[in-house]
Amino acid sequence: MSEIVPNTIILGDAQEILKKIPDFSADLVLTDPPYFLDKLDADWDPQEVKNITQGQVIKNLPGGMRFDPDQGVRLQKWYQKISQDIFRVLKPGGFFLSFSSPRLVHRLAVAVEDAGFYIRDIFIWVYPEGRAKAQTLTRYTSVEDERLSYWKTPQVRGNYEPIVVAQKPPEGKLVDNFLSNGVGLFNFSERLEGNYFPSNVLMTEKMAFLPPIFLIPKPKKEERGDFNTHPTVKPLALLRYLIRLTTQKGAVVLDPFLGSGSTAIAALLEERKYIGIEINREYYQIAFRRIEKAKQEKAVNSTAQPLLL
Ligand SMILES: C[S@@+](CC[C@H](N)C(=O)[O-])C[C@H]1O[C@@H](n2cnc3c(N)ncnc32)[C@H](O)[C@@H]1O
Repeated sequence: MSEIVPNTIILGDAQEILKKIPDFSADLVLTDPPYFLDKLDADWDPQEVKNITQGQVIKNLPGGMRFDPDQGVRLQKWYQKISQDIFRVLKPGGFFLSFSSPRLVHRLAVAVEDAGFYIRDIFIWVYPEGRAKAQTLTRYTSVEDERLSYWKTPQVRGNYEPIVVAQKPPEGKLVDNFLSNGVGLFNFSERLEGNYFPSNVLMTEKMAFLPPIFLIPKPKKEERGDFNTHPTVKPLALLRYLIRLTTQKGAVVLDPFLGSGSTAIAALLEERKYIGIEINREYYQIAFRRIEKAKQEKAVNSTAQPLLL
C-alpha cells in the first residue's frame, strides 16, 4: 500500500493500517473504539450487533450488560497495542481522546497510560436517553420471597459516556511544544452555551436534573443520514467541539475506528484534515457516502454555515 495521506478513509484493521501511517503525522486522535461489551469487540460483525441491539440474540439481558469479567482484560491488552501505534503517529504534545463505557473506562485509561501517554482528564458526555438496564429477579427464579421486591440487578440507567483525554508527552515546555508542533494546549476561546469556560462535563440536551450549562447543540435527525445503519453514531457537534478545543485549523485528525464517518465529517466541517480506518465494509461504505454528502453540502454552503448543523 502506498503511504497514507490526509483526507483518506481506509478499509482495514486498525492494528495493521496504523503501522503504515508515518511517525508524527497526526495532530489529534479522536476515536470511539469498540467498547468490548457483548459482541462489540475488535472484530464485531454488523449482523450480530444488529441482533443484539434489536434484542434478537440476548433474550434476557439488554445488549451491553451481559457480565463478563474478562472483557476488561481483553480490552486493555488490545487497546494498549493500538495506543502504542497511536503514540508513534501523534506529534509530541498531541491529544488522544477515546470514548469509552463507564464499566470499562478504567481498563482503557490504564492501557493508554501504559503506552506512554499522560492522562489529563476524563470528560463525561451526559445524555438523557439511556436505556434502563436493571432486571427484576423474579424473571430468573421461581422462589417467591417478598425480600426480593424492589431489588433488581445492579445496573442503573446509563446516562453518560466517559471520554479519556490523554496527551503524548510534549517536547520540553508545553508552550515551546505548542509553538513548534502546533498542539498541546486547549483553545479557551471555545465557550459552551451561556459562555461557560470549557468543562469536563458535556451535554447535548437540556436535562431537568442538571443546570443547562455545558451545552452542545443536539443533533438534527438528518445528520446521520437515512441510509446509516450504524448503531452507535456520535453527535457531530460534540466531535466538532472536541476538535476545536484541541487543534488548530489545518490539523490532521485521525480516527482508527471510524464507524459511519462522524469524526471525518466533523474534521472536514472544522477545516481540519482527516484519516479514518474502519474494518467493516458496510460501515466503511456508509462513512464514504456521508463524507461525500458533507463535502457537497460544504461546497454549496461555503459562504454560509454548513447545512449539517
Ligand atoms: C463505536 S463504533 C464507532 C462509531 C462512530 N463514532 C460513528 O459515529 O459512527 C466502532 C467502530 O470500530 C470498528 N472496528 C472494530 N474493530 C476494528 C478494527 N480492528 N479496526 C478498525 N475498525 C474496527 C467497528 O466496525 C465500528 O464501526
